[in-house]
Amino acid sequence: KKILILNGPNLNLLGVREKSIYGDQDFVSFFEELKAEFPDVDLTYFQANGEGTIIDEIHKVGFEWDGIVLNAGAYTHTSIAIADAIAAVNTPVVEVHISNVHQRESFRQHSYLSPNCKGVILGFGLNSYRLGILSLML
Ligand code: DQA
Repeated sequence: KKILILNGPNLNLLGVREKSIYGDQDFVSFFEELKAEFPDVDLTYFQANGEGTIIDEIHKVGFEWDGIVLNAGAYTHTSIAIADAIAAVNTPVVEVHISNVHQRESFRQHSYLSPNCKGVILGFGLNSYRLGILSLML
């Protein structure tokens, strides 16, 4: 299986940014762990801070790969354009969040993306990504 882990804005700062919410591990070292844990999955990691770059990446893999695990960061709560990109492709997209957004500010409690995603996993820290990969293997 070919799966893309796609991270949006500010997630390049994991391990540095708001550690009490997002933890102290950087994503590059976490990604190495994931690759070792899922040797039979062809895993790729891509991160972008820009909305258009995220959309380009969804278009690029969205017709051929087996799944996308997407943490769109704050664009989750703002981006109709990313929601449309998810709807446009045929690869299943699983929305993930590190934090439990429902325990946080009210503006984080709506996702434009969820209706177009296969499912949503949130609140399990970086384990949300592990569960996201597993969900695409069922
Ligand atoms: C996040 C939650 C979003 O509300 C926030 O903007 C992020 C990270 C999470 O993984 O918990 O950047 O997607």
